[in-house]
Amino acid sequence: MTLEEAMRNRHTVRRYTDRKLPQEILEQLQRRIQKNNQEYGLTMNLVTENTEAFGPALRLFLAKGVRNYAVLAGKDEPGLEERLGYCGADLMLFAQTLGLNSWWVGGTYRRKGLRKNAAPCAEKLLGLIALGYGAVQGTPHRSKAPEEIAQYDGPPPEWFSKGVEAVLLAPTALNKQAFTLRGEGRSVLMTCDNGVFSGVDLGIGKYHFELGAGRENFDWA
Ligand SMILES: Cc1cc2nc3c(=O)[nH]c(=O)nc-3n(C[C@H](O)[C@H](O)[C@H](O)COP(=O)(O)O)c2cc1C
Repeated sequence: MTLEEAMRNRHTVRRYTDRKLPQEILEQLQRRIQKNNQEYGLTMNLVTENTEAFGPALRLFLAKGVRNYAVLAGKDEPGLEERLGYCGADLMLFAQTLGLNSWWVGGTYRRKGLRKNAAPCAEKLLGLIALGYGAVQGTPHRSKAPEEIAQYDGPPPEWFSKGVEAVLLAPTALNKQAFTLRGEGRSVLMTCDNGVFSGVDLGIGKYHFELGAGRENFDWA
């Protein structure tokens, strides 16, 4: 499965089976996380066979069987949210290509439990991405129409339309899809207005746009 295919197949999964992640899959996830940490100055880490990021009620009613996850962390500095969004999107789609399911959790987790399992050097924590073999595959989210988020100066080229379509497949906090995209020539301006999640959603959306449009076809304004 390619990352593009993964983008279409990925949906939030909050319920997981007890199937353990094979060593080889764990190693691939670790490598992907390390690569993103190095390239983007982050301190994400993989936690396995551990349920401390959720309290008993959450484990019972929402996060069923979540035992493996990536901690979303980095230095507390401007741009952290967007970089974690971008790299988190990469990790989710990569996990999907490995046959796993995922769930971005930015609010409904236990802070203390996550802190306990974060890397010692992790400064700011923004949540986690649950990873594992889903009990279900999830379902497509309700989506805005392309014209509700995007405008192009003149007839839109194919790459722009494909990029916008990819953005609408992205996970966003509360499924808000609070994006705006403006295209002119090769230049694309993208913003997001989703309260405290604006930066993270923007990073996720930008990753999706690049994958759909093809990085070589445009420049970020
Ligand atoms: C930044 C961010 C934070 C999120 N936080 C939560 C959360 O705290 N609890 C939850 O159940 N889902 C959370 N989600 C999952 C979204 O509700 C979900 O991605 C959205 O409804 C779209 O569905 P999809 O992922 O299936 O495309 C979050 C998603 C994002 C991107």
